[in-house]
Amino acid sequence: MNREIKLAPSILAADFMKLSEQIGECEKNGAAYLHYDVMDGLFVPSLSFGLPVIASIRKGTGIFIDCHLMIVEPYRYIEEFVKAGADSVTIHYEACKEHGCTESLKKIKECGARRGISIRPGTPIVHILPYLGMVDMVLLMSVEPGFGGQPFIPSTYDKLRELTALREEGGFDFDIEVDGGITLDNVSDVIDAGANVIVSGSSVFKGDIAGNVSRFIEIFKGKQ
Ligand code: DX5
Ligand code: ZN
Repeated sequence: MNREIKLAPSILAADFMKLSEQIGECEKNGAAYLHYDVMDGLFVPSLSFGLPVIASIRKGTGIFIDCHLMIVEPYRYIEEFVKAGADSVTIHYEACKEHGCTESLKKIKECGARRGISIRPGTPIVHILPYLGMVDMVLLMSVEPGFGGQPFIPSTYDKLRELTALREEGGFDFDIEVDGGITLDNVSDVIDAGANVIVSGSSVFKGDIAGNVSRFIEIFKGKQ
């Protein structure tokens, strides 16, 4: 199946004084998703933004909001994030303890959003095998979660190929998203390895946003 390739600019790298304008530039130039990174200072060392910011974005735009929860026990906040405007909620396998992944993924579906599961670069894919039949997307982290602007970890290519093969063998139907260190130089290889939802922070928001988004979309067009 030829999956649509989508760009998900990560607003972690945006200028928050110009957030509305910058989101508009992404949307206007062909970004299908907006990637929204929530960090709690526990699952990852950083803090980012939470419910009020996503609620404001939701009021101002109809763009698909792809919410990446880098927080412990994400179950606690699923309903609130969906109510605030998340179209898709991605939880981390490593963060679900008291409420497991199955329970959390069910909750996302009940709330009416798309379900995503993510693993850190060091977590092998085998751990998420039980969940592949109950997700709409798998997010492979290609940097250690927590900070934008880090270099892409090359072992992600093997993980992407492994996951693509597992999807094929199992007859599953999930998108494969990759997040961290994606640039105009490596995005083509990332797509060839199997990803179809591409998160990019620094390579979209640093510099000419309209130009950067357009260049990503041009590369996507060459791949479809
Ligand atoms: C990292 C975040 C990423 C980050 C990507 O924890 O999940 O979404 O914003 O930023 P770049 O593209 O700069 O690596
Ligand atoms: Zn992210």
